[in-house]
Amino acid sequence: MTEKTFRPDPDNTLAFREALGCFGTGVTVVTTATPEGPAAITVNSFASVSLNPPLVSWCLATESNRFDTFHDAQHYSIHVMAQDQQDLALQFARDGLDFSHTEWKPDAKGRPLLAECLARFDCSLFARHEAGDHVIIVGKVENVLYRSGQGLIFKRGQFGGFADLL
Ligand SMILES: Cc1cc2nc3c(=O)[nH]c(=O)nc-3n(C[C@H](O)[C@H](O)[C@H](O)COP(=O)(O)O)c2cc1C
Repeated sequence: MTEKTFRPDPDNTLAFREALGCFGTGVTVVTTATPEGPAAITVNSFASVSLNPPLVSWCLATESNRFDTFHDAQHYSIHVMAQDQQDLALQFARDGLDFSHTEWKPDAKGRPLLAECLARFDCSLFARHEAGDHVIIVGKVENVLYRSGQGLIFKRGQFGGFADLL
């Protein structure tokens, strides 16, 4: 492919997205409780922010149908997906209210905890920052879980993982 350089503007959003997709990320599922039951959203904008106090962030699209639910959530859990949880990540990208395909249980603050993730950060809302067509949501981490295993990777629109060394 030939090299491209451009100033991002509304006419070249696709190229901007493609350029951003060169940066590989993990994949997370954020969950919270609603009066109607648990809600989830698949997110790759997760980032570590601060060690002391322990803060993490993610970005929520203002145009999402789930905007109100996650913008207002005071308590939520961020699950880092393991390599074999790609289907779950895709299901929650499509439908954030259908939890029939996964095991989960609520914690003391009602946060829906998904089984078998690689890591989990149970957060309380710390700050929100408007940022264009997204809101940056910063959470204070109250409890952490992690385990050994391989993580799910997302890069250039594709899911993958690390090859097992023989
Ligand atoms: C790999 C992946 C990463 C995503 N990352 C984000 C994200 O960081 N922020 C976000 O608001 N939506 C993200 N989405 C989109 C949501 O998961 C979901 O598909 C979208 O909110 C669906 O639209 P709706 O909320 O209007 O139903 C991502 C989707 C995928 C598949």
